[in-house]
Amino acid sequence: MTARDDVWFLDRFSKSWENLALCAALAERGLRARIVDWDNLAVSGGIAGAVRDGRPVTAPRLAVVKSRVITRRSTGDLALIYDELEALEEAGTRISNPSAAIRRCRNKLRQAAILARAGLPVPETRSVSSQDEIQACMKDWGEVVLKPIWGHASLDVVRMRPGGRGIEEGTVLGIREEIASWHLLEHHKTLCAQPFVPNPARDLRVVVIGSTIAAADYHISTSPDGAVRHFLYPLKVERAPITPALEEIVLGAVAALGLDAAVIDLVESSSGPVIIEVNEGLTVWRTVEGTGHDRTPHGFTALIADQLADLAASTAASSTSAPKRTGSDTGSPNAAPTPSTS
Ligand SMILES: Nc1ncnc2c1ncn2[C@@H]1O[C@H](COP(=O)(O)OP(=O)(O)O)[C@@H](O)[C@H]1O
Ligand SMILES: [Mg+2]
Repeated sequence: MTARDDVWFLDRFSKSWENLALCAALAERGLRARIVDWDNLAVSGGIAGAVRDGRPVTAPRLAVVKSRVITRRSTGDLALIYDELEALEEAGTRISNPSAAIRRCRNKLRQAAILARAGLPVPETRSVSSQDEIQACMKDWGEVVLKPIWGHASLDVVRMRPGGRGIEEGTVLGIREEIASWHLLEHHKTLCAQPFVPNPARDLRVVVIGSTIAAADYHISTSPDGAVRHFLYPLKVERAPITPALEEIVLGAVAALGLDAAVIDLVESSSGPVIIEVNEGLTVWRTVEGTGHDRTPHGFTALIADQLADLAASTAASSTSAPKRTGSDTGSPNAAPTPSTS
């Protein structure tokens, strides 16, 4: 019989510096936190809410979903991951970011539509499932960027121009563009297409925790083609100014998507910053903590721990006012009420 944990960090592979730092910071705040390997966690058919390492346990007050849970799935079954997160919510756990927010953010087409409807600057974004549709984009926009809908880490992000070498009559795809686009479509089936937004060969990367801008840096390309993420030409990082326009855009994006924390990639167009992507959640900050890039009052870890402590406290408050459970497969007195029966 174990007491209910306050916070779980759901992750894969390694414990990570960030998860360990947060567990320690939460312990200092009197909260019990643990790192849980996603592959050893399942939804319980019983009232406890979860099976961890093969044993039924009460779902925690708060669970932080690290990005590897979503991006490094090897079975490919995204729907099951979302089901499991929602089941934890049904068992009384506050998920951060909330599962609905993760979902609306992770699909690049859906994300761009939500941001555009909120009046925020995003490139026009189309779904393309055929080479004809890619050619239509090129005819409308000229240079395009193609990327997987659920992509990350710039994998399979391809920039191409119409009118490449060896073009066939009646098409705008050159020989290499035709081959590459065929393979991308064959593998991903549907892609996101955007006009390439001309920019000074740098991304603007802003970290938002709650309503605080925790970092704002330029990621400057050192590559001759201006690509920011390039294996042979590592990017350079410099502090960027936070203008009122930038602040309004990034805080607006986090609010529109309903996120607790996010890392936002923008490029500087001739008419101001344009959001390329909102990455939900926070991954690595060991390189930033305590350096000149850390704009938080007491460090990233402390600010995130404070936010998580508040979220866990609000779950605790809401579950004490709810009706008491009858019967439990863990017997935890602190367990949240759940609509399921064992
Ligand atoms: N429409 C665009 N215009 C200009 N640059 C872009 C555009 N889309 C992507 N990029 C560049 O490619 C990088 C990766 O694209 P992104 O959409 O963030 O994909 P991923 O999810 O794989 O990181 C961006 O950080 C930016 O430098
Ligand atoms: Mg990105």
